[in-house]
Amino acid sequence: MSRVAGKVVLVTGAGSGIGRATAKLLAAEGATVVVTDINKPGGLETVQQIGEANSGGGARFEEHDTAREADWKRIIDDLMAREGKLDGLVNNAGIAGPFPSTFETETVEQWQRMLSINVQGVFLGCKHGVPAMKQSGGGSIVNTSSLAAFLGTPALSAYGASKGAVRQFTKTVAMDCARKGYRIRCNSVHPGIIMTPMGQGILPNDKARDRALKSIPIGEFGAPEDIAYGILYLISDESRFVTGTELVIDGGMNAI
Ligand SMILES: NC(=O)c1ccc[n+]([C@@H]2O[C@H](COP(=O)([O-])OP(=O)(O)OC[C@H]3O[C@@H](n4cnc5c(N)ncnc54)[C@H](O)[C@@H]3O)[C@@H](O)[C@H]2O)c1
Repeated sequence: MSRVAGKVVLVTGAGSGIGRATAKLLAAEGATVVVTDINKPGGLETVQQIGEANSGGGARFEEHDTAREADWKRIIDDLMAREGKLDGLVNNAGIAGPFPSTFETETVEQWQRMLSINVQGVFLGCKHGVPAMKQSGGGSIVNTSSLAAFLGTPALSAYGASKGAVRQFTKTVAMDCARKGYRIRCNSVHPGIIMTPMGQGILPNDKARDRALKSIPIGEFGAPEDIAYGILYLISDESRFVTGTELVIDGGMNAI
């Protein structure tokens, strides 16, 4: 149980769903995890669960709005002062609502809010995480995109656009860091339909649930841990030769 032993990893949006499962798994595999979220009770609950499991290097919480540059500066400076290095960064925080929301009905305010969290948040994480990783001798960044990055998403217009941007931006960061010899990798993960508060929010009733289930070749919805295991691989040194890639974890939906 030591696939990331000794590593310091920051996970955003770790107060719920995929972020919480990832923080718990990384800690169980030996990492010290800095859990961040805009939702303080959720983040503290994640830290408590890691403490109860008596996992690895343990965890602590920071209140963090990933769309705000000042928050990133404070958290990364503090992390370098306290933990002394940053080996891994999981840019996982995101929003999906309102649902449904088509490009004809969406307001400019909704569009901008979506992009400020789902895209600007990832940009700021890379912008402020990379210098810290350079000081640490290298690192691995994982950006949570979505299956939506590959498909038209008529009922989630701004969301799909935001995840397409994350998919592309990840490759830019990967190429730039590789060419500059930073020893920093950057990859995206692409969850299908995962049973988290967000996943449940886009399946408002039994009819929507049944229809969605029929579209998944494996025949079941994903669990947050299914994504966490992919992120664990990308943060660990097992993926040392992997950068700029897309890890799709979707029960086969993207293969249809
Ligand atoms: N659940 C799915 O089916 C699914 C599918 C594809 C992609 N994803 C992506 O996975 C990631 C995690 O989603 P989830 O399903 O665990 O959702 P979730 O709603 O359970 O968790 C998202 C977390 O992000 C936090 N957050 C929201 N805005 C924030 C901000 N500005 N700053 C910091 N934290 C913020 C929330 O407080 C919450 O704790 C998201 O990026 C989402 O788009 C989820």
